[in-house]
Amino acid sequence: MATLVAVGAQWGDEGKGKLVDWLAPRADLVVRFHGGNNAGHTLVVDGERTVLHVVPAGVLHPGTINLIGPGVVVDPAVLLGEIQALVARGVLRDPARVRVSGRAHVILPWHKALDLARERAAGAGAIGTTGRGIGPAYEDKVARRGIRVADLLAPEPLREQLERAADHKRPELAHLGCDALDVGAIWRQAVEWGRELEPFVDHTGRILDRALRDGRNVLFEGAQGTFLDVDHGTYPYVTSSNCVAGAACAGAGIGPTRIHRVLGISKAYTTRVGSGPFPSEETGELGEQLRRVGEEFGATTGRPRRCGWLDAVMLREAASVNGFTGLAINKLDVLAGVAELKIATAYRIDGKLTHEFPMTLSEIERAEPVYESHPGFSEDITRCRRKAELPGNARRYVERVEALAGVPVEILSVGADRDATIACEDPFRA
Ligand code: IMP
Repeated sequence: MATLVAVGAQWGDEGKGKLVDWLAPRADLVVRFHGGNNAGHTLVVDGERTVLHVVPAGVLHPGTINLIGPGVVVDPAVLLGEIQALVARGVLRDPARVRVSGRAHVILPWHKALDLARERAAGAGAIGTTGRGIGPAYEDKVARRGIRVADLLAPEPLREQLERAADHKRPELAHLGCDALDVGAIWRQAVEWGRELEPFVDHTGRILDRALRDGRNVLFEGAQGTFLDVDHGTYPYVTSSNCVAGAACAGAGIGPTRIHRVLGISKAYTTRVGSGPFPSEETGELGEQLRRVGEEFGATTGRPRRCGWLDAVMLREAASVNGFTGLAINKLDVLAGVAELKIATAYRIDGKLTHEFPMTLSEIERAEPVYESHPGFSEDITRCRRKAELPGNARRYVERVEALAGVPVEILSVGADRDATIACEDPFRA
């Protein structure tokens, strides 16, 4: 039995979906443990693209059970839409392969309305959220007035719960100029969601516990990334959940003693979508090139991603916060043709050199990256399937990243397709 937590080492969009899909044949269970449909995990198999927002990225493998844990916030319409599309494609034949926790909280229409209206009202101070209602849904969870997936299955008590929750929402919605709530319509919709979701609702913690006792392999699929974590990220420019590896325990319902390995996933460069500091951002030609070649547009919102150099200060911080046992470096192919490759190894803040990620937002905002340079490579590496086949400069770049992060590189990705992957080590070894 082996358990592996795969999490983003940057600001999300590191290619977790591709990696989870690639790792999933060795996993009996794939588990989402936080976030919601703010995530957009893109999988490409033989040129065919699948974008998943809620269903775990193990679903394309017929032998894998996919759990949505209690730490996730679920937009029922999005989950049902994804399930229906997978059924229509013949990918999902057995509902037992997708299980959603009855304890997961529900994203309701007012959560989305509030998310969008608050962002509009914030103007230049906006976080740049995905507008999917994630923050407001987590707020209600923590305030102990949320509606959970299992609540959708009991229509009468649900009506009262919705009435109470709506009373709480009305003043802010009115203040922000949103439409008045029609709780009756929301209730009818919620009951319908409950009816359609019922075959998928389960006690996912028990399924997981049984699987671990039976010696199964489990892969925990993180969403967003370390620097979007509500505690460890660039607060307040973060999402509203814990994205670090430790969150897998609380969000799925297992103890830390049952986690064996943690895989950090990073791009060969850095991207960020939404507002907030980004010390190694390149706003000129190089940024444009990375965005164009790397197709750096959000899988959820279509927004262009901000691009820049790889930041080893961040990687070291991520390795420490998550306890990485291995690294996966994605999109190495995108760097082909860049003559000089830079890596940020330290920051200068008010003239002072630091090798550590700063504690406060204002320090991160003032951080000027200190770079080291490496000669680039021009060869197309998308057909390389062994590390030894990579051009020397690409190999040396990867080895330098490994040394700077202090974590072995276990997987390299050299293209979007599932097969465009180089395994250096088995991250699933027990
Ligand atoms: P929220 O999660 O929609 O509240 O957005 C908060 C911040 O996290 C914004 O900067 C978003 O752009 C960012 N974010 C949320 N989910 C993702 C993701 O899956 N990839 C990249 N950025 C994300």
